[in-house]
Amino acid sequence: MLTGAGKIAGVVGWPIGHSLSPVLHGYWLQDLKLDGAMVPLAVARDDFARVIAGLQRAGFRGVNVTVPHKEAAFALAHACDSAAEDAQAANLLIFRADGRIEARNTDTLGLTESLRQEMGSLEGRTVLLLGAGGAARGAVLAMNALGAGKIQILNRHMDKAAALAAALKPRVQAQIAAGGLADWTTHAATADLVVNTTSAGMKGNPPLALDLASLRKDAAVLDIVYNPLLTPFLKDAAARGHKIIDGLGMLMHQAVPSFEAFFGVRPQVTPGLRACLEQALDHA
Ligand code: ATR
Repeated sequence: MLTGAGKIAGVVGWPIGHSLSPVLHGYWLQDLKLDGAMVPLAVARDDFARVIAGLQRAGFRGVNVTVPHKEAAFALAHACDSAAEDAQAANLLIFRADGRIEARNTDTLGLTESLRQEMGSLEGRTVLLLGAGGAARGAVLAMNALGAGKIQILNRHMDKAAALAAALKPRVQAQIAAGGLADWTTHAATADLVVNTTSAGMKGNPPLALDLASLRKDAAVLDIVYNPLLTPFLKDAAARGHKIIDGLGMLMHQAVPSFEAFFGVRPQVTPGLRACLEQALDHA
């Protein structure tokens, strides 16, 4: 049991070495002059439940959860918020004093806040969403929360896009449709915003093989990948004069409710925080 010392939280994933959460929370702890720490914990899939129980006993306030544990985190919690329920996955576990674990999902909120700052409302707009995994699911809910009129999902394996669209149709007001990446050219011509939620373009992965020439000139392009910050997809979009939005905004905004839950103060997303994270990425 931790006694007297500051509040301690963790970030649990596998691998965990490249997580920016310790830098991000560390920046706020220092900025707000709070006594606390956020420690990275590399935990294999099979050890997840045991490690969580151990951290609870050790007096941690809670943990952020990343790949591959988000579904397991949701499954082991005693209670959850509606965002975690919608996503069937959690990126935040809060350890309550009575031993109960509360699961939340702040990824959708992070993307919503980042886009709200960059674009305002999406009222009546058409969004072209690439990917059909867990990140795509959260992104559909974020676009819907911002009032998107139509969300067109395109995925390499079209059946997954269709399954995601069918699962979310009853939960959203926006019109949802699904297709394969081969339909890119047709849909690119009508999109106001393109959102990449696939892992293509991430450090070590091949880039998205899409021709941006068919995009409308005033379309914005967002990539949720932030390592590298300027993915080949965003680089191409910027060179063609499109407004681009990188993945750091989402990362910073999803961390706000976590920090507040762990350390008791609501932090601000500032240019200073962005600069600190950009510097950390440069050295990653
Ligand atoms: P997450 O939960 O982070 O979204 P995931 O469930 O593994 O991760 O989904 C990864 C997404 O990236 C999928 O939509 C995947 O497409 P498939 O479902 O067809 O596999 C997509 N993806 C990964 N690499 C890709 C690439 N090189 N080109 C296009 N899509 C890719």
